[in-house]
Amino acid sequence: MTVPSTFKLNNGKEIPAVGLGTTKNSADVLVSFLLLPTHLDPLDPFVRSLRTAGPRCEMTISRSSHVPLGSGSGNPSLPNPALTIQRKGEVAKAVEAALKAGYRHIDCAWGYGNEEEVGEGIRASGVPRSEIFITSKLFEIHHHPEHVELAIKDTLNKLKTDYLDLYLMHWNLQPQNRADPPQINFQVDVPAGQLPGWDHVVKADNGKIKLDVPLSDDVTPTWRALEALVEKGLAKSIGISNFNINRTKKLLKEAKIKPVANQVELSIQIPQFELVQWLQDNGIVPEAYSPLGGTEGTHLRENKVVVAIAEKHKVHGATILLSWLLKRGIVVLPKSVTPSRIEANFQTVDLSDDEFKQINDLAKSHPPNRVCDQSTSFEPYYDIYQENDPEFSDKVQFAKEK
Ligand SMILES: NC(=O)c1ccc[n+]([C@@H]2O[C@H](COP(=O)([O-])OP(=O)(O)OC[C@H]3O[C@@H](n4cnc5c(N)ncnc54)[C@H](OP(=O)(O)O)[C@@H]3O)[C@@H](O)[C@H]2O)c1
Repeated sequence: MTVPSTFKLNNGKEIPAVGLGTTKNSADVLVSFLLLPTHLDPLDPFVRSLRTAGPRCEMTISRSSHVPLGSGSGNPSLPNPALTIQRKGEVAKAVEAALKAGYRHIDCAWGYGNEEEVGEGIRASGVPRSEIFITSKLFEIHHHPEHVELAIKDTLNKLKTDYLDLYLMHWNLQPQNRADPPQINFQVDVPAGQLPGWDHVVKADNGKIKLDVPLSDDVTPTWRALEALVEKGLAKSIGISNFNINRTKKLLKEAKIKPVANQVELSIQIPQFELVQWLQDNGIVPEAYSPLGGTEGTHLRENKVVVAIAEKHKVHGATILLSWLLKRGIVVLPKSVTPSRIEANFQTVDLSDDEFKQINDLAKSHPPNRVCDQSTSFEPYYDIYQENDPEFSDKVQFAKEK
């Protein structure tokens, strides 16, 4: 099987198989979200502690850092202390370089706080808008139906475009907006016509973010507002992100427009075989975020099995990690601000059946390890992925249908 350049969505449109991720690195996201001084030292213990305490997955990074992959793994262990901070303009340059290198798919999000720069990069590339597939994401503090259109319009203004190719619900949860007490689900004390920000979010006594439990448990009102965006031509397609099988099934029961894609964490350290198969069986394209293991994923690219296959093909370890996901029918969204890596990540190879099996075996050889989980950031605790739930884990839900 050759590596595909696009995948077909369930509405007949095509999505380019390789997209550029545009998330900022963790310390920079902290700066923009928490309005901390911009000269913070990323190695400062306070900054590092915020990384693990913060609500954003791009801030929280690794739960357990590096998990050895299989008995023959290369250099599994020490967490990488070096956090690179993106400088202003870096994302614009990365987007421009990617489009000039042949990418036609850019993955961004309101929550990354850099959509203006993504727009600048797109315009600087000279590639016509009509040739580019742009994804953005509805941030979790904008799930109230009256905020959804405002949110996409804010994103479109920042990108300086008039439609998105794909708009994803970034998370299946919604923090409480300030309203004391917020008895009525959609009543928030944000001035009409204005988007809520983090200063409208309610904190619990323990410092965690209070969750709007009804709107997190049932995202139908938010999904209806997303469906309206398709009708208005503001988004060509809509989808979800960070949804497990159980939560996707629940949404499918209510959806008039079926999600076309589910963007979830996928790499050799979190292969999610059941979720991927279930999505494909149900006509939803899986998209891989953190496909290289994120900022601290060096140990994945340097794994012995990965390196041996990379040497045979004369490519980077990263290329092998991405090619394995593509061969599984998954859209990949590697992030880089380094032109040579941006180019390398676009060069996929066709893995032989034996090489594919070797990487499958490697991915199965260890417990799953996520870069991205914000379940513990909320009050009450919200089990986003339900991984160990006796009824709702993907394993159990998948087995039920077999
Ligand atoms: N939906 C969600 O909730 C969600 C969550 C997380 C991420 N995402 C999306 O997925 C994208 C990718 O995820 P990610 O940024 O977490 O992680 P990633 O793409 O797995 O890894 C990015 C890291 O790998 C480095 N890198 C990239 N290519 C490389 C290569 N060829 N060789 C060596 N190192 C390389 C990058 O460094 P340099 O940049 O310094 O080159 C960066 O530190 C994000 O940008 C975002 O668009 C979505």
